[in-house]
Amino acid sequence: MRVLVVGGGGREHALAWWLSTSPRVEEVLCAPGNGGTPGNRPVAADDVEGIVALARTEAVDLVVVGPEVPLVAGVVDALVAAGVATFGPTAACARLEGSKAFAKDAFTRWGIPTARSVTVRDVAAGRAALATFADPPVIKASGLAAGKGVVVAETVAEADEALVGMLEGGWFGDAGAEVVLEERLVGDEVSVLAVCSGTTYSFLPLARDHKRLLDGDRGPNTGGMGAFAPVADLADPAFHAEVGATVFEPTLRGLAAEGTPYLGVLYAGLMLTADGIRVLEFNCRFGDPETQVILPLVANDPVDLLEAAIEGRLADEPVRWTDQHAATVVLAADGYPASPRTGDAIEGLAAAAAAGCLVFHAGTVATADGPRTAGGRVLAVTAVGDDAAAALRLAYQGVAAISFPGAQHRSDIGRTA
Ligand code: AMP
Ligand code: GLY
Repeated sequence: MRVLVVGGGGREHALAWWLSTSPRVEEVLCAPGNGGTPGNRPVAADDVEGIVALARTEAVDLVVVGPEVPLVAGVVDALVAAGVATFGPTAACARLEGSKAFAKDAFTRWGIPTARSVTVRDVAAGRAALATFADPPVIKASGLAAGKGVVVAETVAEADEALVGMLEGGWFGDAGAEVVLEERLVGDEVSVLAVCSGTTYSFLPLARDHKRLLDGDRGPNTGGMGAFAPVADLADPAFHAEVGATVFEPTLRGLAAEGTPYLGVLYAGLMLTADGIRVLEFNCRFGDPETQVILPLVANDPVDLLEAAIEGRLADEPVRWTDQHAATVVLAADGYPASPRTGDAIEGLAAAAAAGCLVFHAGTVATADGPRTAGGRVLAVTAVGDDAAAALRLAYQGVAAISFPGAQHRSDIGRTA
């Protein structure tokens, strides 16, 4: 089979690596890919027509879509209309991520446990809503903002500033034209991802992301600075049964009943509060960097699993995973997340690989003199071990072997593991 991965981040390099482990896969192509991915083709991930044309001219047998922007733009609908087998949700389903306002409405319709919220379109309505919260609420741009559209306000003044910034100050462009004010919750977070096909779902190993830039969960929110899997203290059947019954089943049933059955990975960002599980957000895709720790633990043949989901046979081919642990540490560019510097030479990749790490590229570009930095999150250094400590130790060994000017990483990934 020829398989096409759409996207160019660390998640997509991990997907390309995973798919290439299948004996059924002859070649993996990536559009556009990065400095580490195989089979790069110069088509932007969000160029829907270009992706369809590429899938046809390259005669690919399967497309896997990584990022949310093409999903929300309808790349799966277009590929399926062109007769190309594709793993990922339609645009109608991707609204669960593309519009937080849509998602919050749906949670109410389907009885999904979530924080109280109000959606507004202008500052006057926003201020009226703000006054109804006892404590400063979280302010969220409704549309896609690359993980940066959420302000966890400490004070009413900060919440007000974010409201005005999003609704009138153009902070996140069109994504901020609609704003969700949400009750602030407290608790540990966990990313629960499942392969979904209609009303059938099968959980992937639980993962924990580290969203803040700096050690101790300080500094600005980022796309994610590291992750580990599984989250062993939650990995019991009772937790999975509860998340299935309260989150995944009603969501998949609701989508199917409304005429938009789901296919793809559904990712629930959960907070475990004193009052129980709450859904903070849905993503309609694999997480980044969660994918870099989840896929190395999956035991299925990748194509068998994705094909089973596409063909409605997921119940016969559920996700199986090994009893190992994985950790990934992100190396980010100087200046990330505000203004990452690019163009620096990257050294030590071979040494990290020789130590036993899987080094997934994200913001890199291959040049005649070797790989250079080309984005905010540059690499995700992944390791697998018999326990979390062993995986973390090896991942940090890989990090120590790699260098580029101004490289930033967290030194406390997995401390809660
Ligand atoms: P989201 O993109 O909605 O997952 O939000 C990004 C991050 O903001 C989450 O991972 C949480 O750390 C934080 N966050 C979002 N919603 C809330 C909330 N209601 N209460 C507390 N923290 C939140
Ligand atoms: N790691 C967070 C995300 O993929 O949205």
